[in-house]
Amino acid sequence: MHYSVMKEEAIKALNLKDDGTYVDATLGYAGHSEEILKKIKRGFLFAFDQDIQAINYSLEKLKKVGSNFEIIKSNFLYMKEELESRGVLKVDGILFDLGVSSPQLDEAGRGFSYHKDAKLDMRMDLDSNFSAYDVVNTYSEKDLARIIFTYGEEKYAREIARNIVAARTYAPITTTLELVDIIRHSMPIKKVIEKNPARKTFQAIRIEVNHEIEILEESLKKALSILDINGKMAVITFHSLEDRIVKNVFKELTEVDSLVKGLPEIPLEYQPKFRLVSQKVITPSETELEENKRSRSSKLRVIERIR
Ligand SMILES: C[S@@+](CC[C@H](N)C(=O)[O-])C[C@H]1O[C@@H](n2cnc3c(N)ncnc32)[C@H](O)[C@@H]1O
Repeated sequence: MHYSVMKEEAIKALNLKDDGTYVDATLGYAGHSEEILKKIKRGFLFAFDQDIQAINYSLEKLKKVGSNFEIIKSNFLYMKEELESRGVLKVDGILFDLGVSSPQLDEAGRGFSYHKDAKLDMRMDLDSNFSAYDVVNTYSEKDLARIIFTYGEEKYAREIARNIVAARTYAPITTTLELVDIIRHSMPIKKVIEKNPARKTFQAIRIEVNHEIEILEESLKKALSILDINGKMAVITFHSLEDRIVKNVFKELTEVDSLVKGLPEIPLEYQPKFRLVSQKVITPSETELEENKRSRSSKLRVIERIR
């Protein structure tokens, strides 16, 4: 089942204008895009995704709502260039709903799930030639430990990395359940009994395969550069690393430069171009938390261009 996280909150935050130009940076299964399209009868929606399966599904879904949209198969890092090449230099709102979609996680063949046996893959972009297999079988022990620790916040990262390297000296590690087995043998039995001992390592490898953290800051800054005055950007994140990046980018762009902070009057060119729409981070409602466990760790931040 596909469930769009904080759909109402995110759509409300964008404050859609009937004739506006909007971007959904992460189309997925079009839950948010469908709502946007319903509300912009005279406007236009550009939707990005790097996953052809998600695009094929969502194209049919959105066609039922209207024709004023275009789906672009591209990494959202290139949003600015893709739009420029279509003559679009400014937009009225941008939504990022980061990470993987539930259909990606649920489809065994994609190799994202630690519950289902599949080839080690985890590519969101099926045209990419870099997969979880490459990370697991070619990274040094040190690099494996670093990503598992940093992107997975996994306490047993060093043990897991050591055991991956030991296991692959015999033969390459090719499947998800082989990897789960190595992870289980890398932690105390008490931890293994607790649920999902592989969750953090799988998250870390997925982030590495898709360069999720590496490209986030640049993607947000480039996207903000095409936001028109009064335009809003809403970003939904699913873990603390992502949220920290979003929070810091928004902070940097909404604060007065420290060089001129103490001055009685801040010259216009030093005044921030953006403001935070709400000081506090937005989290899912009680009802949503009950209906969709996956929304538990989600956070929504919203920023607006003011000059
Ligand atoms: C959480 S899902 C979005 C769900 C969507 N909002 C909905 O309501 O159905 C994230 C989607 O973004 C895509 N994605 C993640 N990172 C991306 C990137 N850097 N460039 C393009 N698409 C990306 C994934 O393939 C996935 O389909």
